[in-house]
Amino acid sequence: MTSTLPPPENSGLRRARIAERTFRTDRWWLGPLLTTLGLAVFIVYATARVFQQEHYWVEQYHYLTPFYSPCLSASCAPGSAAFGTLPWAFPWFLPYALLSLPFLLLFRFTCYYYRKAYYRSIWQSPTACAVREPHGSYTGESRFPMIGQNLHRYFFYVAVLISLVNTYDAVVALGHGHNGGFGIGIGNLILVANVVLLWCYTLSCHSCRHAFGGRLNSFGRHPARYWMWTQISRLNTRHMTFAWITLGTLMLTDLYVALVSSGAITDLRIYN
Ligand code: FES
Repeated sequence: MTSTLPPPENSGLRRARIAERTFRTDRWWLGPLLTTLGLAVFIVYATARVFQQEHYWVEQYHYLTPFYSPCLSASCAPGSAAFGTLPWAFPWFLPYALLSLPFLLLFRFTCYYYRKAYYRSIWQSPTACAVREPHGSYTGESRFPMIGQNLHRYFFYVAVLISLVNTYDAVVALGHGHNGGFGIGIGNLILVANVVLLWCYTLSCHSCRHAFGGRLNSFGRHPARYWMWTQISRLNTRHMTFAWITLGTLMLTDLYVALVSSGAITDLRIYN
């Protein structure tokens, strides 16, 4: 059987060239198109909201959007900076969540699933099976800047810390009902659901799976780690799903907080 694989990396040969643009007759372009649109919607929305510096906090119920958590500018709304602020009021081009957002962005950007998604849809390397790609050569992730993708395992640990902060925000909000004390509103349900799904995404990370089950010669000698690895592996099969769902829940959570904060809607209370 004749091999159609590209030559090995660093072999000095160019990748196989296909004279036709594609041999495919199906709608192979639909997946990459939808991926590009989905990512574009999130990037445009998140960018607009991160630099808006308004409508991120509902003082009455202690709702803080994840896009501003932890809030670090001296001009953060009173009560919204649970972990304290820096001494300066940030100019418009610095996000209030200056410490967490870059790492969250890098965590997602270097995620194994998102890599696959934007390599195919945006970078077009490879575009799809049997579709001619625009790049003349292929160096994978062996050179700068793509070699930086290997830092994903470290961004995972930062993402765990930020998920803990988001969890803290959601729990604290439960203690600020309409008349003080415990209370539940639609906003609380959205904040909690968002945090649960963020944990599903973070814990289903391939680096998390490796942190628990990698570098072991014998699972039998580490039953606790083996059990954790098994559970994470089950979550891991849905990592792509969590990647997309959490993009949606992040936007939904932020939008809800923005609407309540701006007075466009009132939070519907279920209890207190
Ligand atoms: Fe997707 Fe780690 S592989 S977050």
